[in-house]
Amino acid sequence: MTNSSSGPQTINVVKAFTSPGSIRLTSLPPLSLYVHFPWCVRKCPYCDFNSHEWKGQTFPEDRYLDALRADLERALPMVWGRQVHTIFIGGGTPSLLSANGLDRLLSDARALLPLDADAEITLEANPGTFEAAKFAQFRASGVNRLSIGIQSFNEQHLKALGRIHDATQARQAVEIAAKNFDNFNLDLMFALPKQTLDECRSDIETAISFAPPHLSLYHLTLEPNTMFAKYPPPVPDDDASADMQDWIHERTASAGYER
Ligand SMILES: C[S@@+](CC[C@H](N)C(=O)[O-])C[C@H]1O[C@@H](n2cnc3c(N)ncnc32)[C@H](O)[C@@H]1O
Ligand code: SF4
Repeated sequence: MTNSSSGPQTINVVKAFTSPGSIRLTSLPPLSLYVHFPWCVRKCPYCDFNSHEWKGQTFPEDRYLDALRADLERALPMVWGRQVHTIFIGGGTPSLLSANGLDRLLSDARALLPLDADAEITLEANPGTFEAAKFAQFRASGVNRLSIGIQSFNEQHLKALGRIHDATQARQAVEIAAKNFDNFNLDLMFALPKQTLDECRSDIETAISFAPPHLSLYHLTLEPNTMFAKYPPPVPDDDASADMQDWIHERTASAGYER
């Protein structure tokens, strides 16, 4: 909305966070809720996200869910009655949550927020944590979209990336997702250590063969303060990775994906 009397809507939204009572909008923009789960089974050597290897026997699920609820309660004055139309539960590895824990998290969100009846509720999932029964329960609790961290379908590359799952588990995860969820995304990375253009093509072709509604395809970057920054692996040079990127653009477009 760029009406001159109210000014650009985005500026008013920013104001809402500092002074909820002072804005004058004709309609309130919907909100999206992001919930972070900061633990993983193992820290991947390329990853600079806020994610930490959980070294104990079991992570403190109940205490974390209590803290999330308290955090959301404190944020309620900023919600100001607005509808929430998407929830994204990311990480880390939120698919480590128990079925009961995830159910409690969504029940708390529904109790505290005006959530759209058809809200998109996404859970980020690692193929090393897929149990068909648990994912069916996630679906029953209201999760209606999965975002799966595949990274590659190639055994050697998964090892080089320090992933906790193998290629078979990557494929099984997509099969379980496709069976239980109409909507799912696959994350893959390219320009992996020692990866060739043919290997990159093979990964993308495999991903497309599952007809995911969405694909997130990331060029591997060596991020500061990661193991890969400290001990850089032999990644494809700029020309080779540009060839991969060009091919990916053409192939995904020909498969009907819009950027
Ligand atoms: C927030 S991460 C979490 C995904 C999930 N924890 C997993 O790994 O299965 C989202 C995505 O970012 C991408 N990513 C993470 N680190 C990256 C890096 N250094 N370079 C490129 N992509 C990266 C990966 O594809 C990953 O699946
Ligand atoms: S599982 Fe995902 S969030 Fe966790 S360390 Fe690996 S890439 Fe990062």
